[in-house]
Parts: sequence; C-alpha cells; structure tokens
Amino acid sequence: MSIKILGIGAYVPEKVLTNFDLEKMVETSDEWIKTRTGIEERRIATPEQATSDLAYEAAVKALKAADIKAEELDVIIVGSITVDQVFPSTACILQRKLGAKNAFCFDLEAACSGLLYSMEVANSLLQGNPKYKKILVIGAEKLSSVVDWEDRSTCVLFGDGAGALVMGKTGAPGGDCIVASSLGSDGHYTDILQIVAGGSRTPASAATVANKQHYISMAGSEVFKCAVTAMVHSCKKVMKEAGITAQDVRWLVPHQANYRILRAVAGRLGIPEDEVYMNVNRYGNTSAASIGLCLDEIARGNLAEKGDYILLTAFGGGLTWGSILLKW
Ligand code: UT7
Repeated sequence: MSIKILGIGAYVPEKVLTNFDLEKMVETSDEWIKTRTGIEERRIATPEQATSDLAYEAAVKALKAADIKAEELDVIIVGSITVDQVFPSTACILQRKLGAKNAFCFDLEAACSGLLYSMEVANSLLQGNPKYKKILVIGAEKLSSVVDWEDRSTCVLFGDGAGALVMGKTGAPGGDCIVASSLGSDGHYTDILQIVAGGSRTPASAATVANKQHYISMAGSEVFKCAVTAMVHSCKKVMKEAGITAQDVRWLVPHQANYRILRAVAGRLGIPEDEVYMNVNRYGNTSAASIGLCLDEIARGNLAEKGDYILLTAFGGGLTWGSILLKW
C-alpha cells in the first residue's frame, strides 16, 4: 500500500479584478503592482459566495479526478483564514454540501501554510491508522472579505480561490507521494501579519469596525525577509532528508505571495526560474489556496511526469512555514 494524491481540483471565481481596476480605487498603478509583486490580476468572489462555496467547487473536481464518491471520504480538512463563520467549521459546512456523511471534519488554521500543514496531517493519519483511507484536503480563501479596500499596501496583493487534493491509500506501485517534509512555526512574530479583532482578545465591536481591525494588517518588508529565510531553510532540510539536490527538482511550487519572494527563494536554492511554478500574475496571493491552484494547473496541463520531484514550500502568518517534497 502506498499513499498517493488520487485527484486534484481547483476553483477560482469568475470576476477578474485587474491592476487597472485598482488604479480607480486607491492611489496605485499597474506598474507599481507589477514590478513590486508580479501580480496583474486576481479573482474576486461574489458577495453570496463564502469560502465553503469555493471549496465545494474545488472538492467536486478533485473527487471526480480521483473517481471516488463523497461518501468514501474518511476525513475532510480545510485550511483557511477566511472561514465561513467562527463555528461550526467550514469543513463541516462543506461536508453537508458534499454529502460526505462518513467523514470527520475540521478546519486547520496555518494561514498561507494551510494546505501544506493539512497535507502533513492527512499523510500522518493515513500512515498511522488503517481505518483512514481517503482524505480530502483543501486550501480555500475568500481574502476579499478581509481586505481593506482603501489600504493600497495590502488590497493589491490578495485574491480568492480554492485548491483541493484527495489523498489516499492505493495498491499502486512507486511508494508514497510525500517523500519528505519539514514544517515550522515561530510565535514570536504573531504581530507582523494578522487580523487583530473578531476573536476572544478583541471581540467585534463598533470600535473594532471603526478602527478597521477586522482587516489583514501586515508589515510587508519584515514578512518578505522572514518568508525567504524560512522557505529556503525548510526546502534545504527536505532535500537533504530525501537525499536529493536542487538539480533533481522538476518544479519548485512556492506559495504565490510575490514573484520577488519566489525568485529570491529559487535563486538561493539554485533552482532556475523556468522550473519555478508561478501563477501569481493571474491570481495574486490566495493564501492557503495558492499551492493547490498551482498543482491543479500542473496536473491538468500534464506539466510533470510520473516520478518527477515537486518541491512545495509555503510561508504565512503565525509565523508558519513548511516544505513538502512530492514524488509525482
Ligand atoms: O502570504 C504571505 C504573506 N505576505 C507576503 O509574503 C508579502 C510580503 N511582502 C511583500 O510582498 C512586499 O513587502 C510588498 C509587496 C507588500 C511591498 O513591497 P515593498 O517593496 O516591500 O514596498 P514597501 O512596503 O517598502 O513600500 C515602498 C513604497 C512606500 O512608499 P514610500 O514610503 O517609499 O514613499 C509605500 O507607501 O511603496 C508605497 N506603496 C505603494 N505605492 C503604490 C505601498 N503600496 C503601494 C501601492 N501602490 N499599492
């Protein structure tokens, strides 16, 4: 028995918000956004769509690709910082929509590292307990609902979307899909990337709304530096653990935060730019969704061959980070 990715699916909302649209909303320019971030456009959900709706669309596609029914799922894990509501979990809401009545369901909050953390947990459940055979893992975000559309330093960065993977045990040869992994967190940096209000420390009030404390706040350049260091370090750890070098990696798939970050990480690892998967220009930073969106494009476009090494790496609020080496 080996643990494989049985199916991948992704969804982005139809509405496209371009840099030129943003020029009409805040004091910015297409040129600034493109040169500082690489982003040209991003997708924005409708007011009626919640994160679970985005996750549902991605999940249906992943289940179809895996050729399994929702009832066969043993676990659903949703990585998100934009859950539908504080509770019940978005995973439970999604379970109802899918009819995945045999699954136990929970959300996992690790910001932009949400998909990688969820994959690690799913892999451990599959490895450690014979009763778990098929797990749906999703990174889904409606970041447009937590962005201050008057703050040019953040509103140009984020977008909405969802990426889903079905992980499960199969009789297929070739070993497990996760060859090595390394995850980390550092709670000393909780205040450089956060949403301050809405939790138990600062519950929602008229004052928190007036002070815009329900929106993402970020110390951009500090986050930038930490992101590069942490991703490079964890990628190196994972390659060492697997006994491979940068030359063996077919694709580096980093969390799509900013193309300058991605290039810096790739440069320090010695991975050529044309082997770094990037779609940040089309979707912006979709937090936990971004790596799933990339993997879906790689799968649908047949951009990797069986046995290729794909190195996933992410970084986000917490701080959280991690890298996972996949054998495709
Ligand atoms: O998902 C994981 C978490 N997030 C990230 O990884 C994001 C990490 N950080 C970044 O990507 C970058 O730090 C940013 C893209 C957010 C900012 O780029 P930067 O090169 O670090 O710019 P900056 O924050 O140092 O700002 C430079 C200037 C400032 O003006 P002054 O003070 O030099 O006059 C900003 O006010 O750019 C100004 N600025 C803008 N100008 C036009 C900030 N945002 C904008 C904007 N349009 N949208």
